[in-house]
Amino acid sequence: MQIIGEVLKGIMRNYPTGVTIVTTKYENKYYGLTVNSFTSLSLDPPLVLIAIDKKLFSHGVIDKSGVYAVNILPSDMKDLAIRFATAPQEERFKGLKVFEAKTGSPIIEGVIAYLDCKVVAKYPGGDHTIFVGEVVDGNILSNKPPLVYYNRNYYSIP
Ligand SMILES: Cc1cc2nc3c(=O)[nH]c(=O)nc-3n(C[C@H](O)[C@H](O)[C@H](O)COP(=O)(O)O)c2cc1C
Repeated sequence: MQIIGEVLKGIMRNYPTGVTIVTTKYENKYYGLTVNSFTSLSLDPPLVLIAIDKKLFSHGVIDKSGVYAVNILPSDMKDLAIRFATAPQEERFKGLKVFEAKTGSPIIEGVIAYLDCKVVAKYPGGDHTIFVGEVVDGNILSNKPPLVYYNRNYYSIP
């Protein structure tokens, strides 16, 4: 089983993705993590999905808050992608300017665009949970090029 997972990882490394920071507010505190499993799902109703590892702390807070925002990162926010994937939660928002979207989830200043979502369905996805979000708000904030994740490295589309 372990070997099959590693093979899957190796194959998926050949598939480039955008990079997002998924945020939420729970009991008046902000939480967030770097996510590339973000996908648009439906236009009517407007739905997106993210897949979050059940073992992660973030899984619990997204599950409990029932809301999340997807912050789409520009190429100049690589450091933030690394921070939200590695630093302790209490350090992730340090020094960042944010505003609250409709659900209360924080939007990070300088991102390309955001989607603000209410969790309307949860599906088991092996060691992950698929959180389907109904998009209640969203906006494009800049026309900067996106950050791209490919083969465990970050790139920019010119
Ligand atoms: C580029 C990138 C994409 C990631 N995408 C996901 C993802 O889609 N789902 C997930 O559960 N973890 C993902 N992670 C891992 C989490 O960001 C990482 O485990 C984070 O530290 C979790 O925070 P927490 O332990 O405070 O919950 C990704 C990491 C990187 C670097």
